[in-house]
Amino acid sequence: MESLIIDCDPGVDDMVAILLAHHVANVKGIVTVSGNVPVATTTWNALLATELLQVNTPVYRGSSKPLESEPVHSEHVHGSNGLGGVVRIEQRRVSEEKGGVDFLLEEASPEDWIVALGPLTNLATAIQRDPDWVERIRGISMMGGSTTHGNITPTAEFNVYADPEAAAIVFESGADIRMCGLNLTHQFLTSDETVKELHGIDSDLAKFVTPMLKFLLDRMESLNGRRFAALHDPCAVLAVTHPSIFGFEELSVHVELSGTLTRGMTVCDQRTTRMREQPNVWVAQEIDAATALSLVVGSLKSP
Ligand code: BDR
Ligand code: CA
Repeated sequence: MESLIIDCDPGVDDMVAILLAHHVANVKGIVTVSGNVPVATTTWNALLATELLQVNTPVYRGSSKPLESEPVHSEHVHGSNGLGGVVRIEQRRVSEEKGGVDFLLEEASPEDWIVALGPLTNLATAIQRDPDWVERIRGISMMGGSTTHGNITPTAEFNVYADPEAAAIVFESGADIRMCGLNLTHQFLTSDETVKELHGIDSDLAKFVTPMLKFLLDRMESLNGRRFAALHDPCAVLAVTHPSIFGFEELSVHVELSGTLTRGMTVCDQRTTRMREQPNVWVAQEIDAATALSLVVGSLKSP
């Protein structure tokens, strides 16, 4: 099994990704970051995931704010507790004393994939402190960016927009990067059918995820009139554990930092009438969504 370190901001789809990851890979640690909700809440939610899973995966609290800009949250999508207001299960777990960036720098090793599911602040801070760090990890599989449209703005995807300076450092770092952007994750949609399927599963995990997913569908319907919700973050887990269900294309990807309309946009060179720029990212362009969904649903069948 692949060895993963998950850097995340749970977040409904982050939670699903953490549960999935423990089923299909070895998870060495979870690092949290400010993103969908503030870092105190993302850390609490990551600890809750380990409680639900009944595992001792260590959780390290990471950055509380982006490198240069003010925090941006996504409570309008994920609810004020980041979990769609789903009833909180009691848990007394606490995060490790070591900080998230120190953990990444000191304990990530050449077999570890960093699965980045939120703003890239922790990873960029690690790279700023030690640019050679990227040579001591297997690679970075991220949910972030897009080869097409954005979500938080017409051109920018939330994770990149929330800390564009950090994303730029990661894309320029020389790491082996797999990118699952909105162009990919919007092929992996859940619906009321998915909720119905989860209702039929008698496990604590399915009982936890079902109302969260229903909340997400309600939010999506109020935001755009359609009852479909993309499961963004699990894609970045599967891009490492099940690469054969993806189609990847190697492209040049860089982050726009100054455009008034385009700050946080990932500029992907997909030109067909000129020589393209030097590629630096394996961009996921296609996913076998039926297989991906069966892997996610399967991971919720126990305990
Ligand atoms: C990304 O933003 C967050 O709201 C989700 O958790 C996902 O990581 C999608 O743009
Ligand atoms: Ca996320």
